[in-house]
Amino acid sequence: MLIKLPKASDSKESDITPESFYLSRRSLLGSSLAGLAVSALPCWAKAEEAARYADVEPGKPPAWFTEKLPQTQWQAVNVKGEAITPFKDATHYNNFYEFGTDKSDPAQNAGALKTQPWTVVIDGEVGKPGRYALEDFMKPYQLEERIYRLRCVEAWSMVIPWMGFPLSALLKQVEPTSKAKYIRFETLQDPKVMPGQRSGFALIDWPYVEGLRLDEAMNPLAILAVGMYGRELPNQNGAPLRLVVPWKYGFKSVKSIVRISLVEDQPKTTWQSIAADEYGFYANVNPQVDHPRWTQARERRLPSSLFSPNVRETQMFNGYGDEVASLYSGLDLRKNY
Ligand code: MTE
Repeated sequence: MLIKLPKASDSKESDITPESFYLSRRSLLGSSLAGLAVSALPCWAKAEEAARYADVEPGKPPAWFTEKLPQTQWQAVNVKGEAITPFKDATHYNNFYEFGTDKSDPAQNAGALKTQPWTVVIDGEVGKPGRYALEDFMKPYQLEERIYRLRCVEAWSMVIPWMGFPLSALLKQVEPTSKAKYIRFETLQDPKVMPGQRSGFALIDWPYVEGLRLDEAMNPLAILAVGMYGRELPNQNGAPLRLVVPWKYGFKSVKSIVRISLVEDQPKTTWQSIAADEYGFYANVNPQVDHPRWTQARERRLPSSLFSPNVRETQMFNGYGDEVASLYSGLDLRKNY
């Protein structure tokens, strides 16, 4: 992903996030869920480790989030027994170039982003276009927990318990016309609070744009997330609304979405526009197709350090082949990377 040369310090994320821990049920759920039956709790929240809530104390969650929380469908099983990534790693080792290019920049700078109120525009080839306050946008949807691997094109990975709803449910609501072939997402553009949009790091033509083919967007694995680890999304992770498509490299998971458009032509996406030979439109996780500058056969599962490396084989479609491989039958994945 990084166009600039990595600094020596880039390999030392363990210095920032040295501990492995899960959040404890008590700290995580707080008083708002105190009355819930244990069976309704997320499995990963039952871990014994003492909670260290890190320094990402949630502000007051929006009322719509608090109201939806008790009805959340928690995922019963973990990702094939793989450990959930510690909250601190997931919130302090981020890519969100609007807030800077270092992994620690989003945690440091994204606090300035105001996510209440928030407006989402739905437009393009849809029967029901609209401009919604987020609380109205969210009304039809129940929250579901989805514990997914996140594999960055830079060859690090995490396992994150997201909370959101299927993208297919939104598509049913907005009624794509017969001309709609792709879905295009746009991140907020606000140079006042996003230093990356003010800086001389002008490789990115803001706003950050991503897209999916319509059938990819309809796949049940694709979700729009509004929360993670049992709480609303921290700003650095793309609050208040982000895409999560776990079989694709992380850069497809566009953050802080303000516009969703159904379109006829394949959208021009941010990383493809910067370096089409390195970052394709599909960006399916594929250990057999290397990035021109590094192998994609392996990944560092965070937390990982030089002294305690946590390296594993990368799986085709990030391990979600059973669910998504049929989307690409007949497509040459070396050409359509
Ligand atoms: N969305 C926006 N708007 N800006 C970004 O820089 N980075 C992408 C993606 N979404 C990015 C973005 C990349 S490269 C990755 S790997 C993931 O967000 C990282 O998500 P995380 O920081 O929550 O782990």
